[in-house]
Amino acid sequence: MTTRLWGGRFESGPSDAMAALSASVHFDWVLAPYDIAQSKAHAKVLASAGLLDADELTTMLNGLDALRDKVLDGSFEAKFEDEDVHTALERGLLETIGAEVGGKLRAGRSRNDQVATDLRMFLRNSARDIAALVTDLQLALADQAAAHVNSAAPGFTHLQHAQPVSFGHELAKHIHALGRDIDRFRDWDKRAAKSPMGSGALAGSSLKLDPVAVANDLGFDGVVENSIDGVSDRDFVAEFLFTTAMIGIHLSRLGEEVCLWSSREFAWATLDDAWSTGSSIMPQKKNPDVAELARGKAGRLVGHVTSILVTLKGLPFAYNRDLQEDKESSIDAINTLHLVLPAMTGMIATLKFDTERMAASAPEGFALATEIAEWVVQQGVPFREAHEIAGACVRKAEQLGTDLNGLSDADFAEIHPALTPAVREALTVEAALNSRSTVNGTAPSSVQLQLDAARTTIAHLQSWSQVQPHAI
Ligand code: ARG
Repeated sequence: MTTRLWGGRFESGPSDAMAALSASVHFDWVLAPYDIAQSKAHAKVLASAGLLDADELTTMLNGLDALRDKVLDGSFEAKFEDEDVHTALERGLLETIGAEVGGKLRAGRSRNDQVATDLRMFLRNSARDIAALVTDLQLALADQAAAHVNSAAPGFTHLQHAQPVSFGHELAKHIHALGRDIDRFRDWDKRAAKSPMGSGALAGSSLKLDPVAVANDLGFDGVVENSIDGVSDRDFVAEFLFTTAMIGIHLSRLGEEVCLWSSREFAWATLDDAWSTGSSIMPQKKNPDVAELARGKAGRLVGHVTSILVTLKGLPFAYNRDLQEDKESSIDAINTLHLVLPAMTGMIATLKFDTERMAASAPEGFALATEIAEWVVQQGVPFREAHEIAGACVRKAEQLGTDLNGLSDADFAEIHPALTPAVREALTVEAALNSRSTVNGTAPSSVQLQLDAARTTIAHLQSWSQVQPHAI
């Protein structure tokens, strides 16, 4: 059977090179279950408009259900000649129920509104799948953070020792970045939850079909407001791909930390054998490949968001075939995150940290200098002056080849009369941590509260991720 959805005005079929360029069925087949769900909803409004009788509707719905089962169990497959998923499924329906009834389904719709609708459905469900994997990683981070609330570590700015922090605080920052990514999906979802069905090729349909009924049936919140926009809009793809790229960027920064922490120079973290690799020549090597691949894959994800933006730039309205480029990047972004996220979760969950080594280096590099400045401020000295005083302490300690605690009472008194021996109370890592007990600060008591709140938020995000709007 010739399956092409067009051809009446053509004398010949497409050339091989044309067909090869045009084909999308080798990647858009992932949309098949959504396209069938959409066809069922469309059949119902055709019946409501009097274009299918009750028996025809039953035949159509049963045929579509049978086709869906065959697609899902692999017994119906697309062929290259099908060109795209919509064409393949029409062939499948005609083979299942015959052309007499099957041939009526296409009335009042176009591949333009079909593909825009399928892709919204696919991406909305996929956003939940990705979010669920992100929450798994958040939970692994939360467990590690909880185990290290009371572990001190150097905190960095410019990759130089800055101030000591709770290592739990350091780990937990990633939970919040990833949580915002899921929030981005949730916010995007409000805009993506509108059905383009009923837009037809671009202008709507004269057949008195009911787009609102289709939208409700399919699990959308409503219908796009403008049919021309409905078939042309791909900013829902761009926003989706931005969020996947942002997740990739966040994973790359976490990956970079694991690379640093597991380096010989830091030696804070040991990678589990199951989540690292060896070298083909250097027998001693244990490499952080998961972390490096996460860093590397971020580039690919950024490429995808760039690709869709360039496709859309200056594109005339309404549908143009350029828009077929929206799918491979989206599918690859989803597949990439499905590879990276579970591996990152496994790697994080099994990292072993050398807390003694981290704690020992926490005060190094004069990381307690701010403690002197802030202690002096509490004695009524303006911060401008306090900063100079603390700087003088650092200079003196450097001259003497000691740390700040190595300065004598006389050294302190010589630098400034406000520097009484009581300043030593502030000059411990423990005091430095405990004093930062603001709501978002690094005091272990604060970090514990932050983690409790983060777990509540993760549970909330998890429940969002578990409800798929579009049944297939
Ligand atoms: N495969 C096409 C795509 O992905 C489907 C829409 C084709 N529409 C058309 N008028 N040629 O965009």
